[in-house]
Amino acid sequence: MSELPVGPLSFLLPTRIELGVGLAERLGKLSAEAGYRSAFVVVDPGVHAAGAADGALRSLEAAGLTLTLWTRLQPNPTDVDVEAGAAALAEDRKDVIIGIGGGSALDTAKGIAVLATNPGRVRDFAGNGNVPNRAWPLVLVPTTAGTGSEVTANISITDVRTHDKLALRDPNNYAKLAILDPALLRGLPAPAAAAAGMDALTHAVESYVSVRATALTKLLAYDATRRIGASIEAFVADRGDERHATEMLYASCLAGIAISHTGTGNAHAVARALGGRYGVAHGVGCGVALEPVMRFNSEAVRDDYAILAQALGVADPSAGSDTNAERAIRRVGQIRAAVGLPEQLDVDVAAEALPELGRWAADSSGPNPRPTSPDEAAELVRAVVRA
Ligand SMILES: [Fe+2]
Repeated sequence: MSELPVGPLSFLLPTRIELGVGLAERLGKLSAEAGYRSAFVVVDPGVHAAGAADGALRSLEAAGLTLTLWTRLQPNPTDVDVEAGAAALAEDRKDVIIGIGGGSALDTAKGIAVLATNPGRVRDFAGNGNVPNRAWPLVLVPTTAGTGSEVTANISITDVRTHDKLALRDPNNYAKLAILDPALLRGLPAPAAAAAGMDALTHAVESYVSVRATALTKLLAYDATRRIGASIEAFVADRGDERHATEMLYASCLAGIAISHTGTGNAHAVARALGGRYGVAHGVGCGVALEPVMRFNSEAVRDDYAILAQALGVADPSAGSDTNAERAIRRVGQIRAAVGLPEQLDVDVAAEALPELGRWAADSSGPNPRPTSPDEAAELVRAVVRA
């Protein structure tokens, strides 16, 4: 594992985590025990239509909670939808906000919870540490294994006017309770499982080498990498496999806790640059960018990648860091291909657009371990889209 000495560190996770197969059926009981008698339930419309939230909704009703159902949200949550949800909640106060779905539903629920106690527009609270009051009580129930949004302080919301991806990062955004039920992943289509799983793998790898990593976050990121590496292929092939679904849901939660403390890196920067303007799904963008980004970062974090080769089960104990780092990078590419993601995205990006994309990506490089110029970031974007 990590050679990182224990330095000064700060770690906060105010979210209670409950994991178990079939736990969503006990959502009502858990909510009633927490003292909630009414709930504003934010559900992904696709999840709702497929009936995946039925057990959870039935259990809330059976426990006597009064419900308002809110399904107005989109794949990239918008400030307009979040503000509409907050206005609906203000008219019809409920004891708790419950989010059920993938990252988009969870982030929409989180955004509504922030506005419920912080009057204003979403964009007023963007940035680091700009949410003055603790969010409204919030329970999050992920139906994908990927974003880890159920345990992060970050909320991603698109400003529809400017197309900017706003990031609201504040300890006041944490949920009270995260319910991890692997049975909810059963209905996930394979491509969605692959994209979310690659997002989680990207969180784990980028957190491990983040300049803000600590001994504690490395522990989480290493174990998340190990579990995802061992389970992602089998899980994408069969989302109903309880053992692999549990591994993926647990590992994506670990990786979420890790990135909430360390931030992410260049794969996320590239995915963000392509997400807002070209509609590339977050997990797909991250999954395709991870391998070239690791290759770019390798000179700065070769020893760390060699350790991740152990986590991924491909280390050669007789070889040096160079070889093992390369083995980790190759394994990531192999996983990407095995779950059905291409080496390059079929996105039409004009060569003239690359410098600006590079500037955006370099701007959101964050705690990436190798400093990245706009030209270098443009090269990373080009490697991913074949411009
Ligand atoms: Fe992500």
